[in-house]
Amino acid sequence: MRDVNKDNLTDVFNSYMGPDVNPRLREVMSSLVTHLHDFAKDVSLTHTEWEQGISFLERAGEISNKERHEFVLLSDVLGLSSLVDMINSRSEGTSSSVLGPFHISGSPPLAIGGDMKGDFPGPVLLVEGMVKNVDGEPIEGATLDIWQTAPNGLYSSQDPDQETYSFHGIQTTAADGRYGFTSVRPVEYTVPTDGPVGDILNACGRHPWRPSHLHFIVKAEGYRNLVTEVFPEDDPYLDQDTVFGVREDLVMRYQIMSAGSFPNGFELSGNVNDAYLKVDFDLTLVKA
Ligand code: BEZ
Ligand code: FE
Repeated sequence: MRDVNKDNLTDVFNSYMGPDVNPRLREVMSSLVTHLHDFAKDVSLTHTEWEQGISFLERAGEISNKERHEFVLLSDVLGLSSLVDMINSRSEGTSSSVLGPFHISGSPPLAIGGDMKGDFPGPVLLVEGMVKNVDGEPIEGATLDIWQTAPNGLYSSQDPDQETYSFHGIQTTAADGRYGFTSVRPVEYTVPTDGPVGDILNACGRHPWRPSHLHFIVKAEGYRNLVTEVFPEDDPYLDQDTVFGVREDLVMRYQIMSAGSFPNGFELSGNVNDAYLKVDFDLTLVKA
């Protein structure tokens, strides 16, 4: 086409794709470019704004590395990660939520009733529940990959003062589907703000906070993997998570338990004589 103009440009783009292009790629590219062109026309994008956009992407690329995923963070704060999650999740099971950049693989096994708190100060948090199917039946042999922040609001991968796998563990359910461990109460924290995504949040008058949460990846044979997080109902950022990860069914409640009521069957049993927090949260998997 030698007479390209702003009215036919999108069609011309589509006509330039070859005949053997993968049909799904054709669908995705065609829709993406159609929306991109419409967006530029909608806002009458200026050269300066286009340059700012390109420079933003360049800076996101420069700051990214094996540990720092600025484009994922961009997707998170734009709500795209959560939207993709919602589009692809089934309504019957526990809702999924964002994975985030702080999951690390190779976490050590955590026995049922095991402890992640170690010597960290503060009250014990006892977390327990059942991994079950949509009929409420327990799932044996499900693995829960668990991770959370330390009391200073940092994940181990962000904090040189923590052991590699502090507040990380992998638990496997027995025949009763139960899981359980002790830890500390996770705390709210900010997503990284020292890069271009932080600049965008700031320019849009947005804060960078996430409500406190526990992360889980739950896997069991014959079931869809569940990537999720659970949030306490009293967190000040519950209704303004900057990455849009909160779902109604992922909100849990800490019960304040009296001193001396700590149950048996936990590694810390016999050592906890103070009041502690307890949360009971079941995780429901759907068939693959
Ligand atoms: C997280 O929960 O670890 C997280 C999720 C999205 C962006 C940043 C952090
Ligand atoms: Fe997190």
